[in-house]
Amino acid sequence: MADSRRGGFCGSCFSLISFAISITLSYWLFKTPTKPSCSIQAFYVPVLNHATNSATATNTTIYFDLKLENRNQLKSVYYDPITLTIYYVPNVTSVPIGSYTVPEFYQGRRKTTHRRELVDTRGADFRPVSNGSVVAFRIDLATKVRFKTWWWKTGRKNLAVRALVEVNDRGEKADEKGIKLKSGAPELERHHLRVELLVAFGVFFFVFI
Ligand SMILES: *[C@@H]1O[C@H](CO)[C@@H](O)[C@H](O)[C@H]1NC(C)=O
Ligand SMILES: *[C@@H]1O[C@H](CO)[C@@H](O)[C@H](O)[C@H]1NC(C)=O
Ligand SMILES: *[C@@H]1O[C@H](CO)[C@@H](O)[C@H](O)[C@H]1NC(C)=O
Repeated sequence: MADSRRGGFCGSCFSLISFAISITLSYWLFKTPTKPSCSIQAFYVPVLNHATNSATATNTTIYFDLKLENRNQLKSVYYDPITLTIYYVPNVTSVPIGSYTVPEFYQGRRKTTHRRELVDTRGADFRPVSNGSVVAFRIDLATKVRFKTWWWKTGRKNLAVRALVEVNDRGEKADEKGIKLKSGAPELERHHLRVELLVAFGVFFFVFI
């Protein structure tokens, strides 16, 4: 009697544990992926450097360091080509002053990568930055990403973010910290899980454990 009761107790105990494991497993597998985090770590406009010499005065390139971070524990990321468009804020309504395309690439789980490149600004009309002041640039980033969990790959999801980068009279990014690119419109991210789907997969794994 006592033995069978203990067996029954342990039985439901085991069921409970495997059910919890199933739910956790499904959670990690079907959790909404976190979009990659994009930030500008460095930004240098030689032509705006006050301490100008003949080399920087005619150098119309912009140097940038773009950091891309995949924070997902279980999901790797396939990036489509990334388009960066740079606007000079005093004239943001006009055509962009430069653009750059980062070729498509793959990024593993919890990996960080940098793209350090020079952009040609097509002879943009820069106003000199007055002493001790700053001027702003807007950087728009657009791409599509696919997430891969083991064997399963999602469809392409839009990644469109932007940031304002202030540049000082030395032509450098005024803020020493990295500047995170954020989505302009408050995009409705489906962070909440679809509970029914989760429970369904939980039960599915539960049955086969
Ligand atoms: C322009 O400046 C960049 C640094 O931002 C440098 O790498 C590049 O060589 C310069 N180009 C010329 C033609 O001086
Ligand atoms: C703004 O853009 C227009 C058209 O591209 C150009 O004619 C004008 O010179 C620009 N002004 C400045 C301050 O860059
Ligand atoms: C900028 O201002 C500082 C003091 O605020 C002054 O020492 C320096 O000479 C100024 N530089 C220019 C290029 O006007």
